[in-house]
Amino acid sequence: MSIDPTVTIDFFINGQPATAFDGETVIQAARRAGVTVPHFCWHPNLSVPGNCRICMVEVESDNGDPWFDIGCNMPVTAGMRVLTESDTVKKLRMDTMQFITLNHPVDCGICNKSGECLLQDYHYEHNGKPSLSIDRKNHATKFYPLSDRIMLDNERCIMCTRCVRFTHEVSKTGALGAVYRGDHSLIRPAEDANFNEDVYSDNVIDICPVGALLSREQLDHSRVWYTQATPSTCPGCSRGCSINVWHRKPEWALKALDPTLNVRVERVTPIDNPDVNGPWICNKGRDLAKIWERERATEATVGGVPSVLEAALDRAAGLIAGAKKGVVLVSSWASNEELEALRSAFADRLSSNWSARVKFDHVPQPGETVEDDILITSDKNPNRRGALALFGDAGTDLAGAMLGADVVLVWGEGVNDADIPAGAQVVRLGSYAQDAAARSDVFVPISIQTERSGHYTNVNGVITAFAACFAPKGSVVHAADVFAAITGNRKAQQRALTMAAAGAAT
Ligand code: SF4
Ligand code: SF4
Ligand code: FES
Repeated sequence: MSIDPTVTIDFFINGQPATAFDGETVIQAARRAGVTVPHFCWHPNLSVPGNCRICMVEVESDNGDPWFDIGCNMPVTAGMRVLTESDTVKKLRMDTMQFITLNHPVDCGICNKSGECLLQDYHYEHNGKPSLSIDRKNHATKFYPLSDRIMLDNERCIMCTRCVRFTHEVSKTGALGAVYRGDHSLIRPAEDANFNEDVYSDNVIDICPVGALLSREQLDHSRVWYTQATPSTCPGCSRGCSINVWHRKPEWALKALDPTLNVRVERVTPIDNPDVNGPWICNKGRDLAKIWERERATEATVGGVPSVLEAALDRAAGLIAGAKKGVVLVSSWASNEELEALRSAFADRLSSNWSARVKFDHVPQPGETVEDDILITSDKNPNRRGALALFGDAGTDLAGAMLGADVVLVWGEGVNDADIPAGAQVVRLGSYAQDAAARSDVFVPISIQTERSGHYTNVNGVITAFAACFAPKGSVVHAADVFAAITGNRKAQQRALTMAAAGAAT
């Protein structure tokens, strides 16, 4: 039933007056009123199967004869008096918890979901008693490979079918289904689909209310409570999905093992942003570590030879000042703040002997989904829109833009060395070893998204933020400071040098 927010219905929840939108169910209206009705199978972005029964509520009647029904499937009606915490509701919940945990293994100590598990939380909130069953638990497959990315523990599965509905209603692959009946039911890949081809598959890991669906990549990497989430924006395409980047808490830093484990991305999960991505992201967003954790460049070079940062900045400043025809190739992985810093540093030059051309830092890779009608866009850069807003759209012909240039400032990736005029001097700002190895007269290592804060403008003009997770290492500096430093701003130069000194000391 569709919801009409223009028509409201007055009702009561736990004795308090509340307002529902026409078409809302008790669970939805209660949520907006700040009352949580426990739920396993219900998910706000999926259809309602009504199979777990944990959301049972009481409705008072005028004749003193209350009735009970599941809150996720009961529309609110005018004057309805709903109780979510009556003694009978609590008893029914406890019985339901006993039933749902009848065959559930006591796995919490070794389960990846522990710390984020609805079943564990609800057990303590709504049951808290040992199992009443005197029978042995019904065992099922412990590690069933659902796909190359996801492992299924059938013993932990409570058959809520969220994962099945996700593949039918959101990703539309129909790649999962249920076989057999009753307590022999199992989630299995559909015979006529391939879960490996579902590029949104990992969302089922998040929405599984228990630890039945496990990321094979992250299996047993880290307990949830050792990590913290930094809000960010996925740079994988111009959708710019809102994400949390999870990394180890400093207080839980590993001292004995490889120290790089303390500054790596443990996982990426979606932040529910109705204006951009809803509660979902694609698998590329989950795999951002593969992009961010490529071998880094941490040292400046001049003429291909390692250099102290100060000398590199001075040399770059000399080249910029002496240019007869200069071209800046602008990164579409840059934040709005960095783009503004470039524009302000080069303002006078851009209205005389310099020009700027926005480039695609990344293009679709072989095997990658180029675009779809869910989230994925064909532009594999997070902020081309922000860059074009400042520097204009003069086309994609970089070689043409550089014709006759004697100095080229390359910012980020996506430039073919062969397109740069043979005689031009190249000042390059890059983050990865491959950038440092590309053609340059001066190379300055710059920070990546996980080391700075900023904003991107997505394909639809929505601006989202990202925050820093880690401190930069070595001589890595922020591009915004470099632009100011190489155009004569001594303060910015000092800031960059201080940052590099701090990075070198860590
Ligand atoms: S695997 Fe998880 S999401 Fe899927 S039915 Fe089982 S409990 Fe629900
Ligand atoms: S759709 Fe684009 S922005 Fe969203 S998670 Fe996937 S790659 Fe990232
Ligand atoms: S949440 Fe209502 S029946 Fe499962």
